[in-house]
Amino acid sequence: MQIAGAVALVTGANRGLGQVYARELVRRGAAKVYGAARNPAAVTEPGVIPVALDITDAGQVAAAAAQCADVTLLVNNAGVMKASTFIGPPDPDAARQEMAVNYFGTLSMCRAFAPVLAGGGGGAIVNMLSVASFYTNPFTASYGASKAAAWSLTNGVRVELHHQGTLVVAVHAAFIDTDMAAGLDVPKISPEAVAQQAFDAVEAGQIEVLADERSRFVKASLSRDHELIYPPVQEFWDGAVSG
Ligand SMILES: NC(=O)c1ccc[n+]([C@@H]2O[C@H](COP(=O)([O-])OP(=O)(O)OC[C@H]3O[C@@H](n4cnc5c(N)ncnc54)[C@H](OP(=O)(O)O)[C@@H]3O)[C@@H](O)[C@H]2O)c1
Repeated sequence: MQIAGAVALVTGANRGLGQVYARELVRRGAAKVYGAARNPAAVTEPGVIPVALDITDAGQVAAAAAQCADVTLLVNNAGVMKASTFIGPPDPDAARQEMAVNYFGTLSMCRAFAPVLAGGGGGAIVNMLSVASFYTNPFTASYGASKAAAWSLTNGVRVELHHQGTLVVAVHAAFIDTDMAAGLDVPKISPEAVAQQAFDAVEAGQIEVLADERSRFVKASLSRDHELIYPPVQEFWDGAVSG
């Protein structure tokens, strides 16, 4: 599908990657861009229509699907990352919060908008995942579990919605230069580069975006993950816990 003329909804459009997704949609000529956010007053991108939406609130998700019944492209961008281990600190409730937003919130949006997309002839869903969908890192352990669940969800929704002609695109990236990765002194891809690759994929009918070198390496290494991926993770973690 073409972005020009599409009617898009982006979750978490008030800041970070979501704001850039919304901007890129406007730039590519989308007919209408809904910018969904917990605080709609914070959606300030020119040309974007604010919509109140906490994706963990079933009533708000249903209301958004009713209000935005002309959507042909759903961008599930909203997410949280609590930088927590499974076993120890800092936040014993992180796993529940991350699963609530990154998995159950995304699931809820896919369910609510599937009939909307069908009504518009199929359309597309873009799910913002992560390199952490592919492997576990103790520094973002429970986040990784939630993104692995969201990856599984994305693959399943693609199969379930194939009959109605809905393209389902998985977007994976390592570190993106937004608030979420602000505390990390690591190489980061720009949100603009992620948005461009995601919408190029939508326009080309591609189902997966591996947006940076780390994502490409990890995905290509999955069949040998215990040889290629986990040993350096283990070494880094052992060094961290032994001080
Ligand atoms: N940054 C990275 O390194 C990185 C790498 C790979 C993937 N990702 C993924 O990219 C996506 C965007 O993240 P970002 O980097 O832009 O992070 P961010 O700057 O922290 O922004 C997160 C966005 O999600 C929204 N959000 C959180 N919980 C929500 C909820 N319950 N309902 C609706 N919106 C909610 C936030 O809204 P509030 O302002 O209300 O909190 C905010 O707009 C996420 O799915 C993230 O997991 C990020």
